[in-house]
Amino acid sequence: MIIGFIGAGKMARAIGKGLVDGGVVPATGLICSEPDTKSASPFLDLLPGAQATTDNTEVVRKSDLVILAIKPQVFPEAIPVLKEASAGKLILSIAAGITLEKIRGWLHPTTRVIRSMPNTPMQIGAGASVYAGGSNVTEADYALVHRVLSSAGKAWRVEENQIDAITALSGSGPAYVFHFIDALIQGAIALGLPVNLSRELALQTVLGSAQLASESELAPLDLAAQVKSPRGTTLAGCAVLEENDALNNLMARCLSAAKNRAEELARGA
Ligand SMILES: NC(=O)c1ccc[n+]([C@@H]2O[C@H](COP(=O)([O-])OP(=O)(O)OC[C@H]3O[C@@H](n4cnc5c(N)ncnc54)[C@H](OP(=O)(O)O)[C@@H]3O)[C@@H](O)[C@H]2O)c1
Repeated sequence: MIIGFIGAGKMARAIGKGLVDGGVVPATGLICSEPDTKSASPFLDLLPGAQATTDNTEVVRKSDLVILAIKPQVFPEAIPVLKEASAGKLILSIAAGITLEKIRGWLHPTTRVIRSMPNTPMQIGAGASVYAGGSNVTEADYALVHRVLSSAGKAWRVEENQIDAITALSGSGPAYVFHFIDALIQGAIALGLPVNLSRELALQTVLGSAQLASESELAPLDLAAQVKSPRGTTLAGCAVLEENDALNNLMARCLSAAKNRAEELARGA
């Protein structure tokens, strides 16, 4: 099986590495295209044995599955020219905000298109991805795409109308968590702790808490309640987050802004 990437940037490298590390295909089963030969180097350095070309059509022709890993803004120019080559092919788009209807309109009527929303922790095999397909996609196509996306994390099949909200949650979510970690570090430094110790303690706290929440049968707030002893320090700290529903309101606004932006992208704005 040959898996091709149109665009060999961050996400293509993350997925390519997952595919090889997860044993889905050897690196020799990967091909990517970039506008110039030099910019494919990071992909080829990471995955020795993979091929590269500057011809997007060649990738489509040679591949059993083609992954569209270019920025959404590039789609209107780069995708329609693949129409003839895409006949009968299975295409997976990972672009934010580009609908199945749009992609199918640019490609051949016999092209099977699946749209997905992965996230950057894929780079270390810990991604959260979702996917939704057009009406002519087969169960075998879904099974292949599930294998591809779960080779670098976890994957779920969803309805396309959920993808903008999911983009706001798990697509953009890693950045919210990075902000939260940074805010913990800044808060600790303000209390007089050294920078490195603050960083290591904040990271291990977030990592350990996410792991505990993921392995526990308890809901996150029940886990929080377990450590909020009456008149204790955690209760005092959490009271600030809960005052006027501060944290919930902030996250609701944050997700809503990201979802609105995904909807704007879908309208071509
Ligand atoms: N990064 C994220 O957090 C994330 C999460 C979920 C989904 N996504 C989606 O993943 C897609 C790729 O994102 P990314 O972060 O991997 O972007 P990226 O690192 O910028 O990679 C895109 C690559 O495509 C190349 N390219 C541009 N025009 C091309 C063309 N016509 N044909 C072939 N290659 C072309 C770019 O080359 P140049 O740099 O030379 O232009 C670049 O190397 C986007 O659609 C994004 O919405 C990203």
